[in-house]
Amino acid sequence: MNRLYLLFMLFLALGNPICEGKRLKPAPDDKMAVWNEAKFGMFVHWGPYCLYGGEYHGYKQNRGGAEWIMNRCKIPVMEYKAMTSTFNPVGFNADSLVLTAKNAGMKYLVFTTKHHDGFAMFKSRHTNFNIVDYTPFKRDVLDEVVRACRRHGMMFGFYYSHAQDWNHPGGSTGRKEMKEGWANPDSTFINNFTKANHGAWDPYQLTASFDEYFHKISLPQIKELLERYPDVSILWFDTPGGTTDSHATEIMDLLAKYPHIITNDRLKRPNFPGDYKTPEGRVPKAEDIEGIYWETCMNIGSSWGFKSWEDKWKFSEEIIHNLLTICARGGNYLLNVGPDAQGLIPPTPTQCLKEVGDWMGRYGEAVYDAQRSGLTPEWGEVIRKDYDGHSIYYLCVFSWPSDGKLKLNGRFSPRKATLMPDNINLKIVKSGEGITIEVPQSMPDKTVSVIRLDLKGKLPPVNLISNSEKVFKILDEDK
Ligand code: GLC
Repeated sequence: MNRLYLLFMLFLALGNPICEGKRLKPAPDDKMAVWNEAKFGMFVHWGPYCLYGGEYHGYKQNRGGAEWIMNRCKIPVMEYKAMTSTFNPVGFNADSLVLTAKNAGMKYLVFTTKHHDGFAMFKSRHTNFNIVDYTPFKRDVLDEVVRACRRHGMMFGFYYSHAQDWNHPGGSTGRKEMKEGWANPDSTFINNFTKANHGAWDPYQLTASFDEYFHKISLPQIKELLERYPDVSILWFDTPGGTTDSHATEIMDLLAKYPHIITNDRLKRPNFPGDYKTPEGRVPKAEDIEGIYWETCMNIGSSWGFKSWEDKWKFSEEIIHNLLTICARGGNYLLNVGPDAQGLIPPTPTQCLKEVGDWMGRYGEAVYDAQRSGLTPEWGEVIRKDYDGHSIYYLCVFSWPSDGKLKLNGRFSPRKATLMPDNINLKIVKSGEGITIEVPQSMPDKTVSVIRLDLKGKLPPVNLISNSEKVFKILDEDK
């Protein structure tokens, strides 16, 4: 542990007023350990784009997440800002947001402090385009979220769009065709303009260089966030377009003072691989992610930001299946919700998260601190965990065997099998390639049933390599 870090901990321990409520535990030597144990987190995409809800001039946004509405529909800067100045989410309650995550079994929360629209959900010294200075709401949402996380023992992280910013001059503007938004009669003109100007659609966006933007807004705001919340655990960067290695180095230099903070792989590719990879919206194949830390981020519906006409909500069963498959392959699951203009998560995903939480209450033991097992049975997933002297396999059964015989092949020595959550002993019969467990005829849990299989002794350790040693193709669409 380095000396700066110890000093930082001492500073917190001596009663830093910022860190009231739950105090920081000293980070373990391995800075990934707490995040890696947590497995399941909530991603929150919330900003003034929720006022549109994926609809502009009576047209439904044609493509992409509703948080992209300004870009996809080419809303002029002044118009978007005027809309933002009405943002007044009086129904917002940080405790209920954090408790919704906690009750779903989630252990961390990553909040969009600033998305690509450049609007800060915190009071910022560097721009008045922020929730306190620009809206009638005037409350510092991020501060409320951080305090609630501390109160409820939730690890927290900041999403920060460090390059893309459509409202501050000089920020990157990922180029999208007009047809991805709505049937604007001026489409041809707008498309030509964006083509000639790196995706910008409003001349105001072109009044500064990216370097000016980076040093006026992005870097100072990251510094501001770190100084204000030194106990943040994760920085989640996104869409690096425009960032140079030298910009990324400036950010990493800031971060050197906070060695406990972990970062994702989207700061700048390929020389800044961060601590973990971020496959977007999908569960990667086992062989793609062998040996590295990774996290699937995924929507609970079909958009990151709130979409008023959402009709593709996921069911709790799909989310539980994803979580277990991800755990069995050694990853984390960051599940996204998009609060609406009142600051509320809509009823359908709220109910879904409640169901997930009920299931986690019965079987969460199988999830936290999970390790990849390397076993891939046809009936579901196998999650490995190690306790002091021995390893355990959690057999997560998606399709229950109709003959009451659950087969598991592999090289291991079973000690006992019990059906969770009531720990009912099950009979194990050894066979040539593995074992057969005698299970009840019908599936005990209608979502996923879990059998805990205690093994004799500890399995060989799972080997991890550095995040930079493996090139993993990121298939997210907006890079
Ligand atoms: C994408 C999108 C963005 C979303 C993010 C989440 O890159 O640009 O809207 O925030 O991914 O993974």
